[in-house]
Amino acid sequence: MLSVRDLSVSLSGRQILSGISLEVAPGTLTAIVGPSGSGKSTLLRAVTGEAAYAGSARLNGQEVRTAGPERLAALRAVLPQETHVAFAFTAAEVVALGAHAGPAPTPRRIEELLALVGLSGMGHRLVQSLSGGERQRVHLARVLLQAGAPVGQDGPRWLFLDEPVSSLDIAHQIAVMRIARAHADRGGAVVAVMHDLNLSAMFADRIAVLSQGRFVTSGPPGEVLTGAMIERVYGCRIPVCTAPERGPWVLVQAAG
Ligand SMILES: Nc1ncnc2c1ncn2[C@@H]1O[C@H](COP(=O)(O)OP(=O)(O)O)[C@@H](O)[C@H]1O
Ligand SMILES: [Mg+2]
Repeated sequence: MLSVRDLSVSLSGRQILSGISLEVAPGTLTAIVGPSGSGKSTLLRAVTGEAAYAGSARLNGQEVRTAGPERLAALRAVLPQETHVAFAFTAAEVVALGAHAGPAPTPRRIEELLALVGLSGMGHRLVQSLSGGERQRVHLARVLLQAGAPVGQDGPRWLFLDEPVSSLDIAHQIAVMRIARAHADRGGAVVAVMHDLNLSAMFADRIAVLSQGRFVTSGPPGEVLTGAMIERVYGCRIPVCTAPERGPWVLVQAAG
């Protein structure tokens, strides 16, 4: 379980998040959406132990603030919104950085993960020579190596993904969301910051909407993604319609 209670974050003397409470159950995928600057990345950094917070954030019962780096690395893996590799690492070497404990991963395991993210045979390539979307998937493979099995000794393993599909074409977006979905379906849990409301509707069990550092609503996609919510939070009028044959999918159409 991820339990966040009355969490707040201040940076450089500015209150960025306040009054954030959230419960996420294992076996689920939660999308955090909201306008740019609403605090999504800050929230992810706080609950993953990378930003100081007031209030409480517990992962599988462990208060994040007091968990050491080893314990945190065993509980959760984080894909940041931006990643920088300062050295001339190959894709395979970047994936191997995900191994936080135990023996080094075998070349076969690394190739398996690269294949999973659609980069089969590209392990020898320098990351600097890859496209933005390819780099994003190399880092996803690194995060998946760190996460390991969806359920570990300490319970569900948590994937925190900050805009994991932002540089990807639609086919790779769906492939990455399926990987995240599979992690959740096999007993792990995923919290993903998303801009794409359609993809969120397609893959998330729940959507939590941030605006100006506060949650405005959360719930199943069909309840949350209303035209009224989008107008209130994003300030634009967009017709929303569901495709009945797709069950809970919600299609948000571009305004004509
Ligand atoms: N280190 C920082 N110091 C001061 N303000 C920050 C810092 N990092 C982020 N912010 C501000 O916090 C707000 C939320 O940022 P962020 O969490 O990155 O938003 P989002 O991911 O939703 O786009 C923004 O207004 C941003 O300018
Ligand atoms: Mg962000």
